[in-house]
Amino acid sequence: SSPLNVAIIGMGTVGTGVAKILLNRAEQMTTRAGRPIHLKRAVVRDLSRPREIDLAAEVLTDDIEAVINDSSIDVVIQLVGGIDPAYDIMLRTLESGKDVVTANKALLCEKGESLFQRAKELGRCISFEAAVAGGVPLIETVTQAMSANQITSIEAILNGTSNYILTQMFSHNVSYADAVSSAQEIGYAEADPAMDVDGTDAAQKLGILVQLALGVKVNLDQFLRQGIDSLSLADLQYAHELGYTVKLLAVAKLLDGQLEMHAQPTLIRNDNPLAHVEDAYNKIALEGDAVGKIWLSGMGAGQMATASAVVANLIDVAVGRAAITFPRLDLWNPRPDIN
Ligand code: NAP
Ligand code: HSE
Repeated sequence: SSPLNVAIIGMGTVGTGVAKILLNRAEQMTTRAGRPIHLKRAVVRDLSRPREIDLAAEVLTDDIEAVINDSSIDVVIQLVGGIDPAYDIMLRTLESGKDVVTANKALLCEKGESLFQRAKELGRCISFEAAVAGGVPLIETVTQAMSANQITSIEAILNGTSNYILTQMFSHNVSYADAVSSAQEIGYAEADPAMDVDGTDAAQKLGILVQLALGVKVNLDQFLRQGIDSLSLADLQYAHELGYTVKLLAVAKLLDGQLEMHAQPTLIRNDNPLAHVEDAYNKIALEGDAVGKIWLSGMGAGQMATASAVVANLIDVAVGRAAITFPRLDLWNPRPDIN
């Protein structure tokens, strides 16, 4: 059968991981997708920069307009971070008749409503499993596996970089600055790591989860957001002496119709599983009124874990599952009963 033509826009950490899976496991991907997946174009800004993998000259390009306007491309994997120009790229990609898979949580947190609305009008889908908790199937759990429930509580470690830095500082005696540099080198950190260490990234992810789980759009300036950038090794050590571990925790709870939300460094008792999450792992406790508590955990950042979620979404698109599962626009409608 005819191949699914795919373009990746943004061949950095995640895009490279996606290309590795598509090229190295082509046969397996064909079986799973029901047809060959053809990586037709891969867009970068700077063609002269050395790349981790060799792509054919006809694949690698800096001509983003040609890719957006190429009517033979079915799906764009949009991996340019931030809002500008990512918003414009995604909008024009949808308008040119392509489905989109993305890992960009900053964009979905801030502009998700208008993008999903436009996708719906155009009959296109936006799949975004990798935008929250990297390789952990959290979006799928919230939007599908728990759809019989009213989700009442989310408690989560959602920023891999912060958790990695705290682990490096406390368990390996690495300085804060060195830990930040190594998170950047490994590819856990955002292009601007300030977003990781000041709590913004965790808050953006919490904002997306709350929209999906509770149908409420909460702006970042409406809840407490604090990062690990003000912590010292002494803080971590004092906490340990008292039987606690410090983690950057993102919390949303529904209590008597009131939504309480924050993302901040939190003292976690050592008998809580969240205290034992190391490196760039994420861990999430979700509570639903029917199922009770569900725990999810796994790599929340990094090349291959994130690419795993992106490619899973691509296969959803290939087999026609994505249009059903994403977007769930009904979940994005404001709920007047929550304050
Ligand atoms: P990255 O390593 O910084 O890569 C970004 C890529 O986008 C680079 O290849 C860059 O090109 C390209 N790019 C930037 N602006 C562009 C433009 N205007 N036109 C064309 N290409 C452009 O970022 P990443 O870590 O792969 O992250 C990508 C997205 O995934 C972000 O939204 C991030 O938040 C999200 N995410 C990342 C992870 C992770 O662990 N890294 C996990 C989950 C989600 P050049 O190479 O030429 O500069
Ligand atoms: N910078 C992010 C993190 C990437 O460290 O969690 C995954 O979204």
